[in-house]
Formats: sequence, structure tokens, C-alpha cells
Amino acid sequence: MQVKQNYSLLNHNTFAIDVRANVVISYDNEEELKEMARDGFSNYPRPILHIGHGSNLLFMNDFEGTVLLSNITTIEVLREDDTEIVVRAGAGLTMDDFIEHCIGQGWYGLENLSLIPGQVGASAVQNIGAYGVEVCDHIKRVNCVSLTDGKEISFAREECDYAYRHSIFKTPEYRGAYAVVSVEFSLNKRFTPQLAYGGIVKSLQGEGIDINNVSAKQLRDVIIAIRNDKLPDPKVQGNAGSFFMNPIVRKELFKEIQQKYIDVPHYTIDEQHVKIPAAWLIEQCGWKGRSHGKAGVHHKQPLVLVNMGGARGEDIKALAEEIQRDVNARFGIRINAEVNYIY
Ligand code: EPU
Repeated sequence: MQVKQNYSLLNHNTFAIDVRANVVISYDNEEELKEMARDGFSNYPRPILHIGHGSNLLFMNDFEGTVLLSNITTIEVLREDDTEIVVRAGAGLTMDDFIEHCIGQGWYGLENLSLIPGQVGASAVQNIGAYGVEVCDHIKRVNCVSLTDGKEISFAREECDYAYRHSIFKTPEYRGAYAVVSVEFSLNKRFTPQLAYGGIVKSLQGEGIDINNVSAKQLRDVIIAIRNDKLPDPKVQGNAGSFFMNPIVRKELFKEIQQKYIDVPHYTIDEQHVKIPAAWLIEQCGWKGRSHGKAGVHHKQPLVLVNMGGARGEDIKALAEEIQRDVNARFGIRINAEVNYIY
């Protein structure tokens, strides 16, 4: 376990916001975490904030408290049969490293999530998703430690209340109360590619790959190429991926919008609800590629806000609020941040 005082978080948030934390603790195993929690973190300033790679948060100020980082990166096979394997992965593992490992082992299902930034633990909290796959499709169980008393508590998938970019761990009652220590995934021994999402088939064909005979590695490589083409690399330009979630609106409102904008892209959720891409709403409001001071809207994917260099949390937040106001004024839709503001 490593404890650092007055430590810069510049390398611990992908927005590259230059703030400090009073204390940063990186722990190596569950026992260290449990012991600190049992002891009520008595040696450390509160509040306690557990982060992963900081790829979904925006620091508004220096963090006056203790930041926890997990170094639990073990991968264990729990059980397997001819078709399925259940694997437990440590919360501190980089999600993309885990996906690469799985493909190498012949464990399939997570290919479409390739290159999403962040760690395994955070993936289960955020219910990350891309190109037609959500991580909850493959989660069996999420193992946590209570930050209040250090006790183990485990949630079966059905208890996690998974939905689009949502889980029980994001609710006020659970947020900050538990740290994910490992996630159990159910993966397939047989590779069944998920190619339905627009763009994948075209990209595979562009590479000369037969879509009836695509390998998991080929699919992963194409997903990585699509992401690299559309999304800014946080190592080059600070960002947290999609800043907003795609809004789910009532069908009546969607129909009204469609009368005016005949080509509005959309995905049917159920009889009454439709999801509209926030990227489209933001582009219609003229924000694509624009910037405001040190905060900008990415020129290829307007759902992504970027740090133009030296931005503070306030700069990004001000831009986000302007965009939210404009989208609301024009379409009557409130787009909510996917990124968490940390004060
Ligand atoms: N669009 C525009 N203008 C643009 C870009 C997109 O109008 O400049 C419209 C198009 O109609 C396009 C639609 O938006 O078809 C969807 O765009 P895209 O496929 O890029 O996906 P998204 O809905 O904007 C979501 C996820 C991404 C994920 C992609 C691919 C959310 C909040 N974001 O974005 O996740 O990579 O789908 O599956 O659901 C992330 O969460 O950080 C993230 C990058």
C-alpha cells in the first residue's frame, strides 16, 4: 500500500485537470482496504473518494479528502464448461487489458467494448457500453467491500439494477458506500460476433474481412480503429469520452421533433420511449467543433467535451451548461451529464 500526501491528480483524471488531493492511497489487496474501512479511515481525511482511472469524472477543485485507488488486478477462472467460462477480474485491472487477455484465451463477448478507457470495477458501476454491447450483458456478480465497516458484500447481476449507463452503484444510497473489488464475468467459449451496430460491417468490409468469417481479434481491431478515428485520445487531449448521456424521451415529444427535423436519428426503447443521440442534438445547436475559452466540443463527436489546454473544472462545466441550455431551449430536452462532477 502506498500513501501520498498533497498529491497531484493530473495523471489520475483523463480530463487532465490539474488539482491535488490531500491524501491518495493505492492499495494492493482486499485485506488492506477492509482494514482501513474497519478502522473508519481514522488516519485519513474525509470524504473518501474511490476512483478508477478517472475517465468519467470532472474535478471542480482540489480534493480535500482521501482518494482511493485499487491495484487489485488478478484474473481467476471460477468455473467452466464446454460453452461458458466464469472469470473473476480484479477491479483495478484496465478494462481493455482484460478484454485483450480474454480474446487471447478464447473467452468471448467483450470485444465491442475494446479501448473504452477505465478499469474493470468502474465498468460495472457505469455499465459501460459501445457498439451494441453493454458490460452488464456479461456480468454475473459484482463483489464489493463496504467502506463503512469493511465487510464483504456481493451483488448478483439481477440486484445491480442495470440499465443504459445505470446501476445501483450510481444511486445516492450506494454511491461512495461500497468499493467494487472484483467483477465476475460470464464469457462464451464460442465466438458470436455482434455486428449490428452501424459502421462495424462497413469497416470490416473496408478492411477486406469476410463478415461471415470474422475473428474476435479482427473485430477488436476494427472497433479500436473506429474509436481512434472518432474519439480524441485522452493522452493527447484531455476528455472523458461522452460527456452527456443520450436522452430517452417520450414518443410524443419525439414525433413533434420529427415533424420539424425529418431525419432525426433515433432508437426505439419501448412503446412509449425513444432514445435520441445527444451528439445530433448538440450538432443541431451549432456546437460541433466550437470552443469556449479552454473548453471545447470535439470536432468529430460533439458528445465529447475536451480540455483545450489548462482548463479548470469550471471551464468545462460552464461549456456543458451552455450546451444543456441551448439543447433544452431548442428541443425541450434536458441532456444529463454522464461525467460526475467532484467538488
Ligand atoms: N451524430 C451526429 N453528429 C456527430 C456524431 C454523431 O449527429 O457528429 C449522431 C448520428 O446520428 C450517429 C449518432 O449520433 O448515428 C450516434 O453516434 P455514435 O455512433 O458516435 O454514438 P453515440 O450515441 O454518440 C454512444 C456512446 C459511446 C459509444 C458509442 C458507440 C453514450 C453516452 N455514448 O455514443 O460511448 O462509444 O455510442 O457505441 O451512450 C462513452 O460513453 O464515453 C462513449 C464514447
